[in-house]
Amino acid sequence: MTGANGLLGGEAVALLAPAHEVLAVGRGACRLPPGRHRWAEADLGDGRSVERALREFRAEAVLHAGAMTDVDACERDPEQAWRVNAGGTEQVARACRALGARLVAVSTDYVFDGEAGPYREEDVPNPRGAYARSKRVGEEAALLLAPDCAVARVAVVYSGRPGAKSTFATQIVERLSRGEPVRAFCDQLVSPTLAANAAAMTCELLLGTSYRGVLHTSGATVVDRVEFARRVAARFGLAGEIVPVRVADVQLASPRPLRSGLVVDRARALLRAQPLELAAQLDRFHAEWQARPAR
Ligand SMILES: NC(=O)c1ccc[n+]([C@@H]2O[C@H](COP(=O)([O-])OP(=O)(O)OC[C@H]3O[C@@H](n4cnc5c(N)ncnc54)[C@H](OP(=O)(O)O)[C@@H]3O)[C@@H](O)[C@H]2O)c1
Repeated sequence: MTGANGLLGGEAVALLAPAHEVLAVGRGACRLPPGRHRWAEADLGDGRSVERALREFRAEAVLHAGAMTDVDACERDPEQAWRVNAGGTEQVARACRALGARLVAVSTDYVFDGEAGPYREEDVPNPRGAYARSKRVGEEAALLLAPDCAVARVAVVYSGRPGAKSTFATQIVERLSRGEPVRAFCDQLVSPTLAANAAAMTCELLLGTSYRGVLHTSGATVVDRVEFARRVAARFGLAGEIVPVRVADVQLASPRPLRSGLVVDRARALLRAQPLELAAQLDRFHAEWQARPAR
């Protein structure tokens, strides 16, 4: 499991470790709660250390969720985006090839330009911006180098798990709870994806299927971000101001796909772990949030 300290990776380790021997790979120290996994510190950007860790562990299956995910940081430092998202995925894929291991490489709806979403697997990517380009190249590296490979695309990942990083969804809850307004794009359509749901789908894709190629494993509902914020607020019983803003009116380093979102019919047909509609995701998100230790 790469990106094990991350939103999706953390959920996947928790899911897999009780029944499998899991090597959790991340940069720096392990921030996961105690569990049955082993930890390896390795950098996706250094060209070798992740490949070495996977080979020493003799991995039989790899879920690759590690990535430089800050879209604007990627735009400001495209070389690092390339090293981590393209080069890092190449390392992982090379290790899988050498080991004969199955690979699921996690990717993004940002590989599309956002002119005509929601998108199906067979739609042609047209990445814009450094993050999108580096992830698209990572997809191709995985599919080209690892013979037994699926690429699982997700979008707008969020989690209420203790220790999970701040996301748009958690900021909605935190800001409205403090009585502060929330600014949200009214003109960007997305497929919000609860990390636990994506972890369930990608783990099953890895260990329970032999599917090869691209699969969309996001949440099942396409909404604009204002509507997403309203739905989060309603589920948490929070009143407060949600201020619609247009993407073009905000200075962003990296372009954003506007009409994005992913069609998940194929995942629905293939997997037992179903892509969740937003209402079901938010029930689970709320339960995760309630289980957080009081601060
Ligand atoms: N988050 C989203 O909204 C989103 C949307 C679409 C697709 N995705 C894709 O989903 C996958 C999982 O991302 P996520 O949502 O779980 O995001 P995340 O929480 O940012 O997880 C990414 C993980 O990769 C690690 N990482 C970054 N640079 C690294 C490096 N040089 N070496 C080793 N590890 C490194 C990060 O480490 P630290 O924890 O130390 O930062 C983090 O744990 C990624 O492929 C991402 O591109 C995410």
